[in-house]
Amino acid sequence: MTATPIAVQVRAPGKINLALRVGAPRPDGYHPLATVFQAVSLYEDVVATRADGISLEIHGRGEDLPVDATNLAVRAAALLRETSGTRAGVHLSLTKQVPVAGGMAGGSADAAATLLACDQLWGTGLSRDELAELASELGADVPFALTGMSAMGTGRGDLITPVMSRGTYHWVLAVQDEGLSTPEVFREHDRLQPLDLDDAPAPRLDDAVLAALLSGDPIQLSRQLGNDLQEAALELRPELGDVLAAADRAGALAALVSGSGPTVAALALDHAHAVSVAGVMRAAEVAGEILLVTGPVPGARVLEHVHSRRP
Ligand code: C5P
Repeated sequence: MTATPIAVQVRAPGKINLALRVGAPRPDGYHPLATVFQAVSLYEDVVATRADGISLEIHGRGEDLPVDATNLAVRAAALLRETSGTRAGVHLSLTKQVPVAGGMAGGSADAAATLLACDQLWGTGLSRDELAELASELGADVPFALTGMSAMGTGRGDLITPVMSRGTYHWVLAVQDEGLSTPEVFREHDRLQPLDLDDAPAPRLDDAVLAALLSGDPIQLSRQLGNDLQEAALELRPELGDVLAAADRAGALAALVSGSGPTVAALALDHAHAVSVAGVMRAAEVAGEILLVTGPVPGARVLEHVHSRRP
């Protein structure tokens, strides 16, 4: 029998929504979605170490985020502890690369990484499906952070169906210093486009986006990118218009707001093209940071198990 480890390191990715269709708000406040996610190479790393109670420290981005029970990583550990009935505790050391409140599901990646790390640390032995169920209790984007790669999301975005994708896509991300609140963007969307749940059709994806992913051709994909929340994000943050215009001037194949924003993702042909687009966008000074990422990348995965040495 393998002993449970004393520490586990897990990595989970941020995401871009390649296509995002939003339906009428439900009575619970959530919106039915039809979306295609792509996990990209910006990561949240969690090192979970045996400890009493549940505690958290944060490095990298978001050092001023709360580390108490309101933090989604702490909530993930608490939910798994309650579900599994373990009395063990954990100290979580989180290193964040994904922009905070950027529309890239960084907090969801923290939760997904924490679920997997604590599952391994405590030897709870839950199946991937059971973890996905806990993930969806924590937030609509958490199940995708477990799965990664390319996937369709329906329901609240939490019902995940993996989709085939060929090749690697090169993105330039324009990251803003100031985030946007996801509920606020959804509210703005409802204000701009009032829909009634009884009359509005369920949101539907165009099959062409899945065909484009299968083709592996970034030009084909660039024609299928679209985000129903973009108008609301632009309304709340008009400067994002300048970011999209800068991406266009820089020769990006296409650009769109990621999820609820304010991060803008610009698609390039290949790495060299991404470097050139990034250079022009950096010079335009429309974002706090310009980053290069690729996708798709895997979902939450264990990087390291640390076992105590035998005496
Ligand atoms: O599930 P999560 O906590 O990440 O969602 C944050 C907020 O985003 C929700 O409280 C809701 O206001 C909004 N949301 C929504 N419809 C979805 C997903 C999120 O309205 N499908």
